Amino acid sequence: MNINEGPLTHHPIAEHFEEWSAPVNGNKFLEQLSRHAYRVCNYDAVDENYDRFYDCFGNYGTVHFAVKANAQPHVLKALMAKGAGFEIATYSELRLLIESGLTKDYISKKVNFGQTQKERADIRKALIDGVRNFSTDNIHDIRILNEEIEDLDINNEDINLQIRLFNAEGNRSGEGYSQSFNKRYGVNGGGAMQLAKEILDYDMTVYGFTFHPGSGSEDPSLWDYGIEQAAQLTRKMKEELDIDINTLNLSGGFDPLVPIEKYRDHILPKIEQAYQKEGLPMPEHIDTEPGRWLVANTEVLIGKVSNIKINEDGTRIVTLTTGVSENGTLTGLGLAYDYFILRYGRAERLMKREDVRANIHGRACADFDVLEEDIAIPDELHPDNPLADKVFVVIHGAGAYSHYMERNFWCGITPPMKVDYDDFKKCITSDENYEMALVNSYAERSGLPLKNAMTFITDRTSEKIGAIKGSQIAEILDDPQLLKELGMHLLHTVADFVHDHVAQK
Ligand SMILES: Cc1ncc(COP(=O)(O)O)c(C=O)c1O
Repeated sequence: MNINEGPLTHHPIAEHFEEWSAPVNGNKFLEQLSRHAYRVCNYDAVDENYDRFYDCFGNYGTVHFAVKANAQPHVLKALMAKGAGFEIATYSELRLLIESGLTKDYISKKVNFGQTQKERADIRKALIDGVRNFSTDNIHDIRILNEEIEDLDINNEDINLQIRLFNAEGNRSGEGYSQSFNKRYGVNGGGAMQLAKEILDYDMTVYGFTFHPGSGSEDPSLWDYGIEQAAQLTRKMKEELDIDINTLNLSGGFDPLVPIEKYRDHILPKIEQAYQKEGLPMPEHIDTEPGRWLVANTEVLIGKVSNIKINEDGTRIVTLTTGVSENGTLTGLGLAYDYFILRYGRAERLMKREDVRANIHGRACADFDVLEEDIAIPDELHPDNPLADKVFVVIHGAGAYSHYMERNFWCGITPPMKVDYDDFKKCITSDENYEMALVNSYAERSGLPLKNAMTFITDRTSEKIGAIKGSQIAEILDDPQLLKELGMHLLHTVADFVHDHVAQK
C-alpha cells in the first residue's frame, strides 16, 4: 500500500496485461466479449480498504459501508467480520445483510437507514428487524416513522434521528461525480430548526447531523460547508431547543483515487475548528458512510467496442457491448478506461490522446445509456480504422454502483410487475391472482416466457417445493435465498413441463 495513493490508483488487469493476455486466443476472446462482458472480481481488496479507512476514521465513530455500492455477500461478510457498520437505502439491503448473518442486536447499533425519503413498508420492516438509526430531511418521513413506532409499540427514545443538511449553498451540489444531491436531499439551517421542532413534537429527539457532498468528491474541502452548518446548528439547537447533539455523520463521497489520509488530514481539523468557533467540543461520534471508496477497486469490467460514429459536429460516439443497460449506474462516475486492440490475433495496448475525445455508450438504443462524455480515447477508435471493432476496453472502478441485478432486485428497486389489463383487474382484487401474476412477471424477467407454463408451475409449487408456497410468493422478491430457490425451481419445472408437454408432441 502506498500512502500517497487511493485504492483505485492501481489497475491490475491493465498492469498485468502482458501476463494474462499472452496465452489467450485473441479472436476467441473478442468473440466472447461480443456476447457478454466480463466482470473480473477481487473482493479481498475490501479488507485492505476497510482497514485503511478505519485507521483514519474508526477511532472517532462507526464506519458504515453503503450497501447499495456493492451488495456482494463476500463484501458484506468481510465487513461484518471486521465489525463495520452499514448504511442502507432500502429494506431489501437489510434483508441481504440478515442473510449474510447480521444479528438484531448488531442491526440496532450499527445500521443507519440513510435514505431520507422512505417507503412506509420499508420503515416498518426495518423497525421490526431492529433498525433504530434513521436519517431524515422531511416531516412526511417523520410522521410515518412515528406512526409505525407507535403501532409496533417501540419506545420513541430508542430512535436515533439524524437530520440531513445541504452539502453546499442553495441547491448547488458538492462537486463530486454524482448529481446535485441538494435538489432533492437535505434542508438548510432554517429548515433544520423547523424540522427539529416537529421532531420534538413527536416526542423524539435529534441525535445527529449528516450531509453528503456528492459521490467521488475529490476535494476534501467539499465537506466544509456541511461541517460548518452542523456546528452552527448544534449550538443553536442547544440554545433554542435544549437538544444535546453529539454526532456528526460525514456520510460518503470519498473518491477512491484519493488517499483517505488526505480527507482525514483536512476534515478532522476542520471539524475541530468549526465546533470550536461555536464554543463546542468535538462531536463525540464522527461517523462515516463510505461506499465507493471501499469497493470501487473490487471489480473491473471488460467489454468490446461495437461501433464508432462521428457526428456532424465532430463528436465521436463509441458504442460498447456493456453499459448502463446491463450494468447499472455507470454513468459519469469517473471510471477509468484502458483500450486494447487485436492485431494478428494478439492484443496490444492503445494510448489515449487528450486531443481525441468521445462519448462512450452502451447498447441500449437511447441517449441515456452513456457511460462517459467527452473523454480521451485512442485515435485508433476511428470508423476508418479496419480494426476499430477489434478493440476491447477495460473499465476500472466498476466495483461500485455497477450491478444492474442488485439495483433491481436486491436494493429494493423491484421492477414494476408486468401484467396485461385483464390480469391487472384480477390481481388487484384477489391475493391468489396477485401471487400468480408476480410469479409470471418474475418468470418473464428471468427469460421464462411461457405464461401457461407459469400457471402450471404455480399450481404445482405448493406440493413440489416445501420451502416455497404460493402464499409466500409476495415475500420472495425481498428474500434473496427464496428468490434463488424459486428461480431454480422455475427453471427445473419449466424444463419438466417442456419435456412432458412439448417435446412429446
Ligand atoms: C446516505 C448515503 N450515504 C452514503 C452513500 C455512499 O456514498 P459514496 O459511495 O459516494 O461513498 C450514499 C450514496 O449515495 C448515500 O446516499
